[in-house]
Amino acid sequence: MIIHQLNTTNSILNTFISEIRDESIQQDSMRFRRNIERIGEILGYELSKTLNYTKNIIQTPLGKKEVSLINNDIVLCSILRAGLPLHQGLQNYFDKAENAYISAYRHHPNNDAEFEIVVEYFASPSLENKTLLLADPMLATGNSLVAVLEALKKNGTPKEIHLVCVIGASEGIEYIKKHFPKNTHLWIAAVDDTLNDKGYIIPGLGDAGDLAFGEKL
Ligand code: URA
Repeated sequence: MIIHQLNTTNSILNTFISEIRDESIQQDSMRFRRNIERIGEILGYELSKTLNYTKNIIQTPLGKKEVSLINNDIVLCSILRAGLPLHQGLQNYFDKAENAYISAYRHHPNNDAEFEIVVEYFASPSLENKTLLLADPMLATGNSLVAVLEALKKNGTPKEIHLVCVIGASEGIEYIKKHFPKNTHLWIAAVDDTLNDKGYIIPGLGDAGDLAFGEKL
């Protein structure tokens, strides 16, 4: 796996990360969603530098100009529901991409510490030979991403996968490294050291889905 952790370079990205973490700011759900979207735009811009380009001739009203344009067939896939604002940020830039949505949630049959990942809803075009951008804001244990990777297989094998995440835990990154193809890129804004006993990233930001969309039963 090729890991690109973006907050190690000083940039405006760190302002957006600090606002989604800050408990006095993150309660404004519209601002929380918009900040995640802005982070998605930055991650998307950075990953666009590694895509394939072909030269095109553009006709302006006054002449012709050669421009290199992306030629990958891109599918944006997000894990519902927390992935939606990140998906929106990617879609703002990759506006011609196809889109896929998959649900994955933590089911706690016994207690809070133990959970299994349940994948239910899945709507996706063919992924065969495409460039898959898989958006999941919080890479905690890595279990959801691995369960989603398994479910996506029935729609074909992508040429390459770019995982797009906002905050990750080192443990989860180690876990997904073992399950995703070696040429997978991980684009991540920030990495924290630990998980608590409920599988939440510490210090992280809390529950990204609840902060974006409100609590659920
Ligand atoms: N999902 C979240 O929203 N937050 C975490 O810390 C871990 C998983």
